[in-house]
Amino acid sequence: MHSAPVDSKMRPCSSLSLSLFFFLFSSLNIQHCIATDNISSRRSLSENQTIVSKEGNFELGFFTPGNSRNYYVGIWYKKIPVQTVIWVANRATPITNTSSAEFKISEDGKLFLLSSSKILVWSSNSTPSTSDSTAAVLLDTGNLVIRNGWNTTIWQSFDHPTDTLMPGGWIGVNKITGEYQSVTSWENPENPAPGPFTLSLENGRSKQFVLLWNYSEIYWSSGLWNGQYFPEVPSANKNTPFNVTFVDNEQRTYGMYTILYSSFITRTVIGSSGLLMQWYWLDSTHEWLSISSLPLPQCDVYSLCGTFGICDQKSSDNICRCSYGFEPASMKEWELKVWSSGCVRKTSLQCSRKSSAGEEGDRFLEMTNMRLPANPHNLTVGSAKYCEQACLNNCSCNAYAYVSGCSFWIGDLRNLVQLYDGDSGAGTLYLRLAASDFPGSGSSHKLVIDLTLSVIGGILGILCVLLGLFWAFQRSKRIRMAKQVESSLILFTYGDMQRATKHFSEMLGSGGFGSVFKGTLVDSTDVAVKKLEGLRQGEKQFRTEVSTLAAIQHVNLVRLRGFCSEGSKRLLVYEFMSGGSLAYHLFQNNSAVLCWKMRYQIILGIARGLTYLHEKCRECIIHCDIKPDNILLDKDFCAKVADFGMAKLVDRDFSRVLTTMRGTVGYLAPEWISGLPITSKVDVYSFGMMLFELISGQRNTMHSVDGSKIFYPSWAATKIIEGDIFSLLDHRLNGAADIEELTRVCRVACWCIQDSEGHRPAMGQVVHILEGVLVVSMPPLPRALQHLTEDQSHIHNHLSSTEYEDALDQSLDFNH
Ligand SMILES: *[C@@H]1O[C@H](CO)[C@@H](O)[C@H](O)[C@H]1NC(C)=O
Ligand SMILES: *[C@@H]1O[C@H](CO)[C@@H](O)[C@H](O)[C@H]1NC(C)=O
Ligand SMILES: *[C@@H]1O[C@H](CO)[C@@H](O)[C@H](O)[C@H]1NC(C)=O
Ligand SMILES: *[C@@H]1O[C@H](CO)[C@@H](O)[C@H](O)[C@H]1NC(C)=O
Ligand SMILES: *[C@@H]1O[C@H](CO)[C@@H](O)[C@H](O)[C@H]1NC(C)=O
Ligand SMILES: *[C@@H]1O[C@H](CO)[C@@H](O)[C@H](O)[C@H]1NC(C)=O
Ligand SMILES: *[C@@H]1O[C@H](CO)[C@@H](O)[C@H](O)[C@H]1NC(C)=O
Ligand SMILES: *[C@@H]1O[C@H](CO)[C@@H](O)[C@H](O)[C@H]1NC(C)=O
Repeated sequence: MHSAPVDSKMRPCSSLSLSLFFFLFSSLNIQHCIATDNISSRRSLSENQTIVSKEGNFELGFFTPGNSRNYYVGIWYKKIPVQTVIWVANRATPITNTSSAEFKISEDGKLFLLSSSKILVWSSNSTPSTSDSTAAVLLDTGNLVIRNGWNTTIWQSFDHPTDTLMPGGWIGVNKITGEYQSVTSWENPENPAPGPFTLSLENGRSKQFVLLWNYSEIYWSSGLWNGQYFPEVPSANKNTPFNVTFVDNEQRTYGMYTILYSSFITRTVIGSSGLLMQWYWLDSTHEWLSISSLPLPQCDVYSLCGTFGICDQKSSDNICRCSYGFEPASMKEWELKVWSSGCVRKTSLQCSRKSSAGEEGDRFLEMTNMRLPANPHNLTVGSAKYCEQACLNNCSCNAYAYVSGCSFWIGDLRNLVQLYDGDSGAGTLYLRLAASDFPGSGSSHKLVIDLTLSVIGGILGILCVLLGLFWAFQRSKRIRMAKQVESSLILFTYGDMQRATKHFSEMLGSGGFGSVFKGTLVDSTDVAVKKLEGLRQGEKQFRTEVSTLAAIQHVNLVRLRGFCSEGSKRLLVYEFMSGGSLAYHLFQNNSAVLCWKMRYQIILGIARGLTYLHEKCRECIIHCDIKPDNILLDKDFCAKVADFGMAKLVDRDFSRVLTTMRGTVGYLAPEWISGLPITSKVDVYSFGMMLFELISGQRNTMHSVDGSKIFYPSWAATKIIEGDIFSLLDHRLNGAADIEELTRVCRVACWCIQDSEGHRPAMGQVVHILEGVLVVSMPPLPRALQHLTEDQSHIHNHLSSTEYEDALDQSLDFNH
């Protein structure tokens, strides 16, 4: 870490007593007094000194990343408490001792770094420009600029980015100097040396950007600039707070982006594991949040897991693992979640040695459901046996596969991907291993597994048949229903709606997609009218989506009665729920307390509604915003899920994701933040969070134990595992709850909020558990919560930075 004791910084001040006075008076004045934004020939930078940009956004100085012992000169955010380096000068040439090391500028305009033994370690190599007042100035954009006496820029760090593209920075090529601007990953989070992944202009010519491995293999491309945006860059499309531009003129070809709201702090970084991430600083939670991550899926990153590593998108803890018989080449890097160094054999192959009598040679391990690596060598042989023999006979052959013909692979294997049943392109790969590394050469073990598998397979088979019958039955029912529904969907005029809602006078609520008003139709039925905002699709597409929505009908889903589409006005008309929202009944002091029986029925209703959305509809619908405010109750307190299918109407773009996050961070599954693909399991997570609120009758964050606010689910999960469930129950119920039901709900809640989506149950399973058909075991403590319990200060359920919200509102308005 860099350190900047006040005394060394104060040296530039002419009068010590004066600066002491300032120091005692206000620390702000010290900044004015000593902080400078430039390095000039008269003033170089040493050890503990830094320069700070004028408005105090950025700081430049010596730093050490993480636990590294090396020193670098870099630029980081001054106002952010987490050290975040955006540029490194000597990324490949660290120094190990900073005492009397110097970062200075020569008279002719070259920045250079001298080690403590005065050896040249790094230089900006700028074209000489003699002038006595050359200085390097750190700007508030994060750009370090060398200007000569005539105020001409002769060098700037934005022309030489490391792994970060800042708003206002660029990547491309300068056609006159032939210089390229690209960003290249750090080797690992503790070593800024260039890693294998790069973002640059394709071929340095074309109008698209690509992600490259080893400057050769393209694993993602932005798509060609269409004059307005790059088709494959999600956050660079229209309607985002970015202004993306691409310029191609006589001098330069480059792409850049700026941020429309100065209150956003954001940066684009190519990470050590090859992902291009867009990061946002959330002031309210003091952390960086990634909004987009490319490519998706992550296993598309070329050689993500290095040589002989296997990429497994569904794995819960590590996306990469080593093939059987291999181990990580660098345990240290794997612990930092950087896998590109790959795996090495535990035992080298017997191949090259002539096997003596009795000694076994190499053998092949069968790996099923693998995506086969690229660039095989092909051989025309009669059978798999010959294919195996051909591979054995060639010492550089590491694996073979026999699909339609014989393929084998010479040298290191990269890009092995674990697939699952139903994935296309899956094949069986035979990996060469030394015989001594071969798993249990005895066959009894395998037999047991085979037997178990076949028994399980049999049971599953029977289940499948039953499910199939059930599904066919449901489907025929559904088709009959859908027709009826589609024909009964009413098309209203805008005038109808104005009359029905008395000119939108009674607002029931408002959310990310628009406001909801109460209305009464001519036949005096009550309706809820939702005025949609942020629509981007044409009339025809809107009608298609609406009729799809209308076909989704279930007793636990709020029913769509009709719609209106006139000009830019889009309204949805729903049945009116006289019981109000679950949030009202749970959290409002003046509402009657919901008894346990009722809560259980509500929980079961929600679970059934979600099961229908996830599993029974023609296309799986992910709700994405499950919370008590989106659960409505009818006059008999039957629970109905509202606001589903919105993501189909309103694009799930940048602002949509942020909106979801704004009010409801506490319900958000970790995938939203980690950038993993979003599946229906995000709803399961939110459902689990909501269960805790149903049990306790309070918002998850509003709990306090001995006066201090705590995040209720982490405390509750511990209690559940300890078996002390009655202490969790809403105290207003005075312990009046069925213990068996309460146990089920508690355990289900805890299973639903597991970190890995693979560990969470499907909604259908939840229904079965609640119905008592399935028995639920004791859940493990979710790891993310464990972390929270250890450090309660990290908890923020609601983002509160007003600046951030203002910016959000603007970005939403921007949708029109
Ligand atoms: C460098 O900083 C000093 C002190 O803050 C200031 O007086 C001077 O004008 C700056 N020079 C340039 C070229 O910005
Ligand atoms: C820099 O800071 C370190 C630790 O605070 C201190 O030991 C060292 O003397 C300082 N160096 C200079 C040149 O002030
Ligand atoms: C760093 O360099 C200084 C001066 O060259 C020397 O006195 C000191 O022992 C060095 N420190 C280490 C840890 O090598
Ligand atoms: C030097 O140029 C920069 C931008 O080109 C400008 O902002 C600055 O005011 C200029 N400084 C002087 C002293 O002319
Ligand atoms: C990376 O590219 C260089 C030059 O094209 C090549 O020599 C080297 O073998 C490549 N590295 C790997 C690991 O393939
Ligand atoms: C986007 O940037 C370009 C070039 O910098 C500029 O001409 C344009 O006005 C900007 N658009 C917006 C909406 O700010
Ligand atoms: C082997 O066959 C595959 C598919 O049939 C083909 O893509 C590949 O180029 C072939 N490899 C060689 C070295 O000919
Ligand atoms: C192994 O196979 C490759 C590709 O067919 C070939 O180029 C190489 O010469 C072979 N090596 C030996 C030792 O046969």
